[in-house]
Amino acid sequence: MAMQTIEELFEHELQDMYSAEQTLLDALEQMANESSDRDIRKGFTQHRKETQGQIKRLDKIYKTLGRKPESSSCPGIEGLIKEKKVFMREKPSDELLEFYNVGAAQKVERYEITAYEGLIDMAEKLGMGDAVDLLEQNLQEEEMALNKLKAIASEFDVEEEEEDEEEAETQAQ
Ligand SMILES: [Fe+2]
Repeated sequence: MAMQTIEELFEHELQDMYSAEQTLLDALEQMANESSDRDIRKGFTQHRKETQGQIKRLDKIYKTLGRKPESSSCPGIEGLIKEKKVFMREKPSDELLEFYNVGAAQKVERYEITAYEGLIDMAEKLGMGDAVDLLEQNLQEEEMALNKLKAIASEFDVEEEEEDEEEAETQAQ
């Protein structure tokens, strides 16, 4: 049957974010492993822990709806993961990959922030006060994560690898 109500749309979008957060658990772990900088690694690990808490909050919303989340995927986040796979074909240096991850994680946060803002708006329209509170907490964590990533990115300095310098010298000769 065709979808007609905001409540149905809310459930659809909730499922989307539930799947997104699940996928991000793996992505954040991978990005932590790809980080040599202690602060960056700690940042990804900490946000992974927050993500586990975010999933628990979404579980609570499902409970109040008397429903269970399905195991499906979020095409939006899958797209960003595919984007990284394409980037990896460029064989980036470890340092550049680390810098790339800080940027890719910001894209993810922006996606999540917009998705949570939309869910909050719908939950308000539906008079779901408890869901609004829980979603607001997730939104706040995503906003804080985005700000942290922005600060890390602006301080990040990528040094040219020696290999590249040698190559440039050879070319100059
Ligand atoms: Fe999240």
